[in-house]
Amino acid sequence: MQIIEQLVPLRMAVERLRQDGPLALVPTMGALHEGHLTLVREARAHAAHVAVSIFVNPRQFGAGEDLASYPRPREQDLALLRAEGVSLVWAPDVATMYPPGYATNVSVSGISEPLCGAARPGHFDGVATVVCKLFNQVQPDLALFGEKDWQQLAVIRRMVHDLDLTRPYADDIYGVPTVRETDGLALSSRNAYLSAEEREVAAALPRAMQAAIARLQAGEAAAACLADLQRALLAVGFASVDYAELCDADTLAPLEGTGDGPARLLVAARIGKARLIDNMGV
Ligand code: PAF
Repeated sequence: MQIIEQLVPLRMAVERLRQDGPLALVPTMGALHEGHLTLVREARAHAAHVAVSIFVNPRQFGAGEDLASYPRPREQDLALLRAEGVSLVWAPDVATMYPPGYATNVSVSGISEPLCGAARPGHFDGVATVVCKLFNQVQPDLALFGEKDWQQLAVIRRMVHDLDLTRPYADDIYGVPTVRETDGLALSSRNAYLSAEEREVAAALPRAMQAAIARLQAGEAAAACLADLQRALLAVGFASVDYAELCDADTLAPLEGTGDGPARLLVAARIGKARLIDNMGV
């Protein structure tokens, strides 16, 4: 497994790897868990080689967010990736990604504005900018992202489509289903912030979502189900709920109830130092 931190050796390595067939990229911010490793395994099923990027992207963190404390267990991450047969790890530092004088921003309007976009202004500009750069740097034939970040996936697909990117094409952005703990909590690097007590409370999030989905599927109006979902989370010990919305799965437009098209329940809620997000199909 090659670990590369500079652009020129990256280009040479990528050129060599691509001679064997398609190259897949799994972009990450490190602090890897089974969800990331599932992306890597899925990538291996579609590509001759898998590259993983590890870069904690400062541009997607807002003021007062957890950029400084975000976990960076580099050696542990590298060992996990080695064991998964990853060919290349792209691990630039901040000065390599954003050299002095860097001035370009990729901003996807519309789909990036509600939900996490409203709660974390500028977040998706940071994501779109770094993912666009990662795609240009690694030039993968396909790229894989977790469905846990449903809105992020939609923003990236929009960006790749709108900018006519060819490595990867829009059709080559794969969403991989969320990996969950046995009690249903979605895996996230930020779960590490939870105390033992908060971790127990956190499991109420997927349970409350499933209860809301059962009522939505029985034909109840979204407004009542979502209000009860928020109340249930606050009652068990969540500090606040950024949003709990029923949306069109593709456009993220808010829905008043389940209709003909695919719908998605999306929630973000805060507990202790963690902001947990989750989403489920309805
Ligand atoms: O989902 C993440 O880990 C990050 O948002 C990503 C896509 C690697 C961009 O920094």
